[in-house]
Amino acid sequence: MNKIDGSDAVHRLSLGSLELKNNMILAPLAGVSNMAFRVIAREAGCALAFTEMISANGLVRGNDKSRHYLLSSEEDKPLGVQVFGSDPVFLADAVRIADEQGADLIDINMGCPVKKVVKNGAGAALLKDPDRVSKILEMVRKATRKPLTVKIRSGWNGQNINAVRIAQIAEHQGIDAVIVHARTAVQGFAGSADWRVIEEVKNSVGITVIGNGDVKSGVDARDMIRLTGCDGVMIGRGALGNPWIFKSAVSVASEETGPDMPTLIERKEMIVRHLEAESLLGGSDGAVVRFRKHLLWYTKRLRGGSVFRAKATTISEKNLLMDEIERFFNSAEMTS
Ligand SMILES: Cc1cc2nc3c(=O)[nH]c(=O)nc-3n(C[C@H](O)[C@H](O)[C@H](O)COP(=O)(O)O)c2cc1C
Repeated sequence: MNKIDGSDAVHRLSLGSLELKNNMILAPLAGVSNMAFRVIAREAGCALAFTEMISANGLVRGNDKSRHYLLSSEEDKPLGVQVFGSDPVFLADAVRIADEQGADLIDINMGCPVKKVVKNGAGAALLKDPDRVSKILEMVRKATRKPLTVKIRSGWNGQNINAVRIAQIAEHQGIDAVIVHARTAVQGFAGSADWRVIEEVKNSVGITVIGNGDVKSGVDARDMIRLTGCDGVMIGRGALGNPWIFKSAVSVASEETGPDMPTLIERKEMIVRHLEAESLLGGSDGAVVRFRKHLLWYTKRLRGGSVFRAKATTISEKNLLMDEIERFFNSAEMTS
């Protein structure tokens, strides 16, 4: 693989007309990357954050849930909206809606391997139909002047690695960047990402290439850039319970000293802020339930964490949960 100078690893990034402060991006994550989490990730240093995948058909038909995913705010900028579908006309209409509703950038999902998505010819199923990919990208390009990206996998399966071909189609149709999750659709999340595909794509197109897959630390982000030459890094699971990964990625990649792990107090403060942000999204009790998964991720490796989690997941009232969080971190502080 290529080796580039590490000091080039973090830099401002242009995606069409959009200027990002750095090249670290929060991935679209279904059930996770809502406004609360996006704002938390931005505070930690990520330059662009995505909604979860939104059904193009749902958006066009005015489905409440689909429209709800577009909810955003001043602090939640710049916003990437991801849509999925298989019909070029619906996708173009959905892109128009996302544009009108304030998206700063729109991504077309061509990587989701989930059965109920691919059986309708959407998500990663599109990788098997380059002609349709071309038609879709031609139509969505005509639907907006905002930056457009396409998020793909290496290919459908090991016998059909075609990320380079799809990226070339994207470039031909005027798409601003391609995001490559370096696994096949059939792999799902199994095995490890093969970053060589990112390098191959980077060497084959002139448009921006964002690498994705298995970046679990700031050092990984820097290494992905060094090894593949990609222009930016998208982080998904590595940010769960660990928004600090963005701060680390930015400082490690710019060859500054990487920050230490957060202290217990910083971790507690992050949890409290995140829970408050979640509550603002509607209904503090619903927020507690929605927040449970984050709480598990935030406390995964902490001493006494499993006892705390067993208790915390029985609580559905925000104030009681806040008390429990306070108690846990106070006693953790005393024993650390
Ligand atoms: C819980 C979860 C939800 C996801 N939802 C989406 C999604 O809505 N759209 C998408 O393109 N990818 C989605 N992905 C894939 C991620 O965006 C990313 O490509 C993948 O997790 C690999 O990156 P990572 O190793 O940094 O997590 C999801 C992944 C996870 C774990």
